[in-house]
Amino acid sequence: MENELLKPYQLGNLKLKNSLVMAPLTRRRAGAGNAPVEMNAIYYAQRASAGLIIAEASQISPTAAGYMNTPGIYSAEQIAGWKKVTDAVHNKGGHIFLQLWHVGRVSHSLLQPGNILPVSASAISGGDYITTPRGKMPMEIPHALTKEEINLIIEDYRKAAANAMLAGFDGVEIHAANSYLADQFMHTSSNVRTDEYGGSIENRGRFTLEVTDAVSAEIGANRTGIRLSPSNIRYGMDDPDPASLFGYVISELNKRNILFLHLVEPMQPLDNHPHMIREVAKFFRPYFSGTLITAGNYTPESGKAVLEAGHADLVAYGRLFISNPDLPERISKNAPLNPPDTDTFYTQGPEGYIDYPFLKDQNK
Ligand code: FNR
Repeated sequence: MENELLKPYQLGNLKLKNSLVMAPLTRRRAGAGNAPVEMNAIYYAQRASAGLIIAEASQISPTAAGYMNTPGIYSAEQIAGWKKVTDAVHNKGGHIFLQLWHVGRVSHSLLQPGNILPVSASAISGGDYITTPRGKMPMEIPHALTKEEINLIIEDYRKAAANAMLAGFDGVEIHAANSYLADQFMHTSSNVRTDEYGGSIENRGRFTLEVTDAVSAEIGANRTGIRLSPSNIRYGMDDPDPASLFGYVISELNKRNILFLHLVEPMQPLDNHPHMIREVAKFFRPYFSGTLITAGNYTPESGKAVLEAGHADLVAYGRLFISNPDLPERISKNAPLNPPDTDTFYTQGPEGYIDYPFLKDQNK
């Protein structure tokens, strides 16, 4: 039987060559002003045989950043840098979305303009360490956003989505996963607000849905995707009832007819979290009738199996796309995969970035 991973897929107006997605991957190799450079265009163009690329998390404003050398999507320079990337991918017949990012409390005043405190739903620290220009530092207690400030951030998302269109992206993915700002609003462990953004599940989901509405209104629901990680426990994320919380949020997203829902499977052992969902895509598939992308620890075999089981429509690969620019070809030929080198995930320069070999060169 034909490998489902290699089947073309119609995603809204886009005809994907196969059912493999390159997951969003922070590589910390942006240039001056957090603008993408030529090397970033080479890296993405090398991976244009993916059905869809979701480009790395990119900050929607200067205060949205939590890491050094990550790209942004709020300045003219950044839009111009990204245009080089999208042109390079489109020239190779690929499709590319941009992931829109606000880290919230997963930052540090040393990473913030004017050294202001990072922000979050509530004044609760993520309880971990974070890399700053002065080395590893404990996370600080963030500033709890006022309602006016929340509205300004939603406006930043809207503008960032518009900028992504100017930069030639085919659409955007709202990053509402992995312990960042939207996640901080959703979980009880990071949100103790008493206004309409805290308390009930509806209130905790409000920020994520308002961001989705703002982005969809700006660029169209058919260009808007979102990423959620319902079983993520990193940086102090926890919730007594993730099934109800994310069941509600995903049902609401479903009503909005957005292009896709991208779900991350558990990435940490959940032994001490019996209430967390083990098989995320399988659990939430019935809640969402649009395109469902699943990510997290997939091999070529398990990715094929999850599509055959009908738990998702597309499979995203992260680390395997870092080390195998031609992953679809390798899967089609059952060829060996290059192992990813974790030491160069976040270093500067071309090593471990644009020098992973293609199969055609290895076979010479
Ligand atoms: C990631 N991941 C990630 N997720 C996300 O939503 N935005 C991002 O920018 C990043 N950045 C990132 C960088 C690196 C180096 C890694 C390894 C991971 C998570 C990623 O998208 C994916 O969900 C995980 O890597 C799990 O998939 P794999 O690698 O098991 O296929």
